[in-house]
Amino acid sequence: MSPLIRQDVERGYFRVSRQAFVDPDVLTRERDAIFSRCWLYVGHESEIAQPNDYVTRSVGGRELIFNRDRSGAVNGFFNTCPHRGAIVARENKGNALGFKCFYHGWAFNNNGAFSTRFAPEIYPADFNADGCANLVKVPRLEAYRGFWFVNYDAEAMSLDDYLADAKAILDLVSDHAPGGMEIIGGSQDYCLDANWKLLVENSFDGYHAAETHSTYFQYLAKVLSTGGGDAPMAPVGGGGSRAVNLGNGHAMVEGPAPWGRPIAKWISAWGPEAKIELDALRAELDARVGPERAARIATRNRNMVIFPNLVINDIMAITVRTFYPERCDHMTVNSWAMGPIGEAAPVRKRRLDNFLEFLGPGGLATPDDVEALQNCQRGYRNAVHAGWNDISRGMLKAQPATDDEEQMRCFWREWGRRMGDGTVGGLA
Ligand code: FES
Ligand code: FE
Repeated sequence: MSPLIRQDVERGYFRVSRQAFVDPDVLTRERDAIFSRCWLYVGHESEIAQPNDYVTRSVGGRELIFNRDRSGAVNGFFNTCPHRGAIVARENKGNALGFKCFYHGWAFNNNGAFSTRFAPEIYPADFNADGCANLVKVPRLEAYRGFWFVNYDAEAMSLDDYLADAKAILDLVSDHAPGGMEIIGGSQDYCLDANWKLLVENSFDGYHAAETHSTYFQYLAKVLSTGGGDAPMAPVGGGGSRAVNLGNGHAMVEGPAPWGRPIAKWISAWGPEAKIELDALRAELDARVGPERAARIATRNRNMVIFPNLVINDIMAITVRTFYPERCDHMTVNSWAMGPIGEAAPVRKRRLDNFLEFLGPGGLATPDDVEALQNCQRGYRNAVHAGWNDISRGMLKAQPATDDEEQMRCFWREWGRRMGDGTVGGLA
């Protein structure tokens, strides 16, 4: 098979074949080499904060129950009945001591143990002695700073090793507030007719922002000028912005925030009362983590992708997002807003306004991105004739910026490595 990635490091060229976005054989290989072997985000500890809390999730093509059982232990189960396979937990979330299958009524404690009692003549006396009637646990379930991940490969490296330098960025997000962070409310779920890797690229693509989201930036300029007194917006790619390789295919872009941040960058459009609140948040941050780290947390944006598909964008609000392919040209997206536990109501309101305004599926950015990604996918109908994407921007720079494409190359190199020998080649 000819390479799907072609690069020339000396000359600064990096190209990805559009077959990677349209070929069903590529998706079949991804399901095995990536979604069955990488650590995949399943949920945040705040979503199952209390004993007996559970959520159900589709993760990497599997249906899961992610819960905290009556003893307080966190579990991941395949959401399928040992009897004949029906989905056992059919709600998105809840609080339950156990689960009962609606088909024939088999029941399970929330630690997965089969709990139905049958008359002795119905099943053998030692039925379930080998645990065959219990819910099946996922092979691996590990957490870092409250972010829980599953891995369907029992032999996979530890989550701690896998996350590599992405841990330091999860630390920055987790250190926003002294009481920790939480997922706010429910999830925003939507789908689009585009290959899943297009959303990987888009989630930390600084290059497209000014062009694709011009409406938002015009709106923002108006809001900032209405408030009076703010510095002009920092251009994307300026202000010491940088793309950073975090190892194992993870990468991020980081740069100055042109907008207000609930932690803890005030803009005049929010008014003087908000300044008092945000000054207090900043003072707490300074005291707890030191002024240098506090300035980084408060005033700089970070868009991160943890390979293959966990996005944590800490920008005008924090979004946590995953997405999975249904087909080569179709994906489903789940995204959540995150914020500090115990956040004051006015700050939380501004956070959620910011989130909806830009990141929500009806906001000023996500519909633009959906349109752009679906447009790319339509363009790939010509892949036989016009076969390659260019991802070379900034490749010869010692320090690529947020509007370069080094972060995407980090993803693609790991994707190529995991997809096997011959996936990456030189420029033809
Ligand atoms: Fe669940 Fe039969 S499939 S009880
Ligand atoms: Fe965008």
